[in-house]
Amino acid sequence: MATPIITQNPSLPTAPKEEEALEDDRLCSGISSFSLLEKEQPQSSSSSDSLSSLGSPCRIERVWAHWKKLGAPKLIVAPMVDNSELPFRMLCRKYGAEAAYTPMLHSRIFSENGKYRTQEFTTCKEDRPLFVQFCANNPDTLLEAAQMVGPHCDYVDINLGCPQRIARRGNYGAFLMDNLPLIKSLVEKLAQNLQVPVSCKIRIFPNLEDTITYARMLEDAGCALLAVHGRTRDEKDGTKFRADWTAIKAVKEALRIPVLANGNIRHMDDVRSCLEETGVDGVLSAESLLENPALFAGFRTAEWIEGEEESNRDGGLDQGDLLVEYLKLCEKYPVPWRMIRVHVHRMLGDWFRIHPDVREDFNKQTKLTFEFLYDMVNRLRGLGTRIPLYVKSSDAGVLGDKVAPQAVQDS
Ligand SMILES: Cc1cc2nc3c(=O)[nH]c(=O)nc-3n(C[C@H](O)[C@H](O)[C@H](O)COP(=O)(O)O)c2cc1C
Repeated sequence: MATPIITQNPSLPTAPKEEEALEDDRLCSGISSFSLLEKEQPQSSSSSDSLSSLGSPCRIERVWAHWKKLGAPKLIVAPMVDNSELPFRMLCRKYGAEAAYTPMLHSRIFSENGKYRTQEFTTCKEDRPLFVQFCANNPDTLLEAAQMVGPHCDYVDINLGCPQRIARRGNYGAFLMDNLPLIKSLVEKLAQNLQVPVSCKIRIFPNLEDTITYARMLEDAGCALLAVHGRTRDEKDGTKFRADWTAIKAVKEALRIPVLANGNIRHMDDVRSCLEETGVDGVLSAESLLENPALFAGFRTAEWIEGEEESNRDGGLDQGDLLVEYLKLCEKYPVPWRMIRVHVHRMLGDWFRIHPDVREDFNKQTKLTFEFLYDMVNRLRGLGTRIPLYVKSSDAGVLGDKVAPQAVQDS
């Protein structure tokens, strides 16, 4: 089972009883051919083409050539345990996301357990560019897991940012910041032996100098792309602590590889400000996408409506529509019901606040079905609920077609 590092949303029901949890681990329908891993041969190692190979004078050029070949994606779905699974990634891609991370996978369990691999990592040919993220504290185990996913992704990413207790107990994520030589050995192992480039996702240190030294060490070890979450290990609550874009800017200026910013991306104005203020190559969003998977297409929730009335209009799309699209993707790309349950709460949170009785009814279901979920959206609509997503005229076309809401609606 995926390692649960999620901070529980207060609107979620309390932990299900054991038999309910087992029901939620069922796949929502039969597994289909996109679960490719069991059929793949491990990648050959030590390729002379390895993008991350150390000491090569043109390594940095090749790092950039790879990034540009992927289309230099700017709008990226962040890794989220139990939440950035295939159907959710595909929904976000439809609405403007240009690349996506898988949820964090546990490298040891992944390399040892076929059921975990089949259930927790699924992909399809349209699911690119793709970062597959692992947590790890053993270079050989990490390499073994990375070789299995290499043929299906564009980066193998190391999670160096998870601040949760489970990561402390398992000695991975942000707790490896206390053991930089171990981090170096993880990056070097992949960089020297894997054809697919290695990327890292980090948190910042309280001290900027330490952050820069850390980032340079990663680049020198062979990291080909760095995502920087601009909060420290102790700043767990994203609603309380603003991400430090100044630190991210300093990292971008100190490195030669592509750098991505993470934190405080809630709508397209944030995307523009972050790109301008930090000079980074792209941004990651997590929490806000869960509520509004159409964020990167320029849609925003009512919370982010400001200024003159006429500059914001009803975008002709709402979270009920998005949930229905997500459920259809789940029928096509099966996932455990527990993932669907969380997305229902996130996307329909505002709707449930108006109709708590519908939420209670949903929480009571120990065994979910698609029929129940489609009916529930219809029931909410029947009760007259409609909370539109809005578009701001300045969002259309600013970063190209990908963020023109009209283009999405017309398609
Ligand atoms: C539900 C959830 C699950 C997450 N799981 C992961 C994960 O698997 N790997 C990871 O590196 N970060 C994980 N994170 C952290 C996010 O990727 C991101 O760094 C953090 O939420 C800050 O971005 P935001 O301000 O856009 O939410 C998770 C965050 C959330 C909300």
